[in-house]
Amino acid sequence: EQIIAIVPAAGIGSRMGAELPKQYLILNEQTILGHTLDCLLSHPQIDKVIVALNPQDDYFANLSQASHPKLQSVTGGKERADSVLAGLQLADSGAWALVHDAARPCLTHQDIDKLIASAATFPQGAILAAPVRDTMKRTSREGVITETVCREQLWHALTPQFFPVAELSRHLTAALAAGALITDEASAMEWAGIMPAVVTGRADNIKVTHPDDLQLASLFLKNSI
Ligand code: CTP
Ligand code: MG
Repeated sequence: EQIIAIVPAAGIGSRMGAELPKQYLILNEQTILGHTLDCLLSHPQIDKVIVALNPQDDYFANLSQASHPKLQSVTGGKERADSVLAGLQLADSGAWALVHDAARPCLTHQDIDKLIASAATFPQGAILAAPVRDTMKRTSREGVITETVCREQLWHALTPQFFPVAELSRHLTAALAAGALITDEASAMEWAGIMPAVVTGRADNIKVTHPDDLQLASLFLKNSI
């Protein structure tokens, strides 16, 4: 089966508050998006990488990866899910898609391998996830604890998230049209009653979100492949 990667990279990085969209900040001599694309483009099982860009993107064309034969770009949309849908339009309907945030540059081939292999057990699709480590609290609006939430069976949803292209396109489109709160691909599948599996991934596959994530990502990049 054909496997493609879709990389939503159309965000503006408002929480990072940098002069450039965060995916174009440099870490260890390379843009964050460049690290992400290198990992996906060099994976032997990934046939094509589709990156969704902001309509105002001024930076992508300058990346060394921009002319890679396995890479295609598309204009993204207002929300992350719209960008993913734009990417899915360029995908073969019989393929499987690995949807991976541009802002997660510390992904490893080992985690991609685990996720792809999980399709044999979980034909409905699966996501990389990390078990919650801290004790979890629910609070009132005033910030007073109302309960301790059992952290067993509680996970951080990471990316990539791995689904058949046709099903993901259909359910993402329908969930958005219905106004459902869709923050990742799995939530669109769940909305349609299809329950994806979790595959334990590395906790250092962080999403670079706030300025203090930059140092961590830089450190994690030095230690991975
Ligand atoms: N993304 C996208 N299209 C959007 C919004 C986000 O492709 N309309 C991408 C981002 O570029 C990022 C990923 O989705 O790679 C995860 O989103 P997030 O971390 O929220 O990035 P931003 O939206 O750029 O950041 P912020 O929410 O702080 O503005
Ligand atoms: Mg965002």
